[in-house]
Amino acid sequence: MTILTIVRKVTLWRAGTLVVATAATLIAVTSANAAGDAARGATLYRDCGVCHSIQENGPGPAHKGVFGRLAGKAPGYDYSSELKNSNIVWTEENLDKWLAGPEKLVPGTKMFYEVDDPRDRADIIAFLKEKAK
Ligand code: HEC
Repeated sequence: MTILTIVRKVTLWRAGTLVVATAATLIAVTSANAAGDAARGATLYRDCGVCHSIQENGPGPAHKGVFGRLAGKAPGYDYSSELKNSNIVWTEENLDKWLAGPEKLVPGTKMFYEVDDPRDRADIIAFLKEKAK
């Protein structure tokens, strides 16, 4: 059943503001999913947690503030010169490429961990965007 069909059915059942509210909620939920589900991303991020955390450097750099930032800028972390000099900005698109294959985006990087499923990558990116501000 498409959203439009649901909206039409709801409209047939009831009139007034409730219908508008329901339709708006349905649309909001759908677009949130298309952009990535941060809650699901939080669960997936546990695998990253072997090397990363939001606040502290470990085997991998801390992720605080990483979204939208230039690569290689977590204070106090010893990056590979390849990543440090890559001039990549961590947009959604670049994070997606990075998670799909760090070595392909930045040959010589120290990170070798890949996320094959595009949906998983979108959810992890949504998590980083929201929680690693
Ligand atoms: C086995 C350890 C390991 C795992 C697991 C790992 N990473 Fe990394 N990650 C690294 C290392 C090491 C670097 C630094 C790479 C360099 O300096 O070349 C890095 C760098 C990054 C960067 C760049 C940060 C910056 O400040 O420029 C991002 C973003 C990132 N990782 C995200 C993730 C995410 C998301 C996951 C989970 C899906 C993940 N990593 C899993 C080790 C890991």
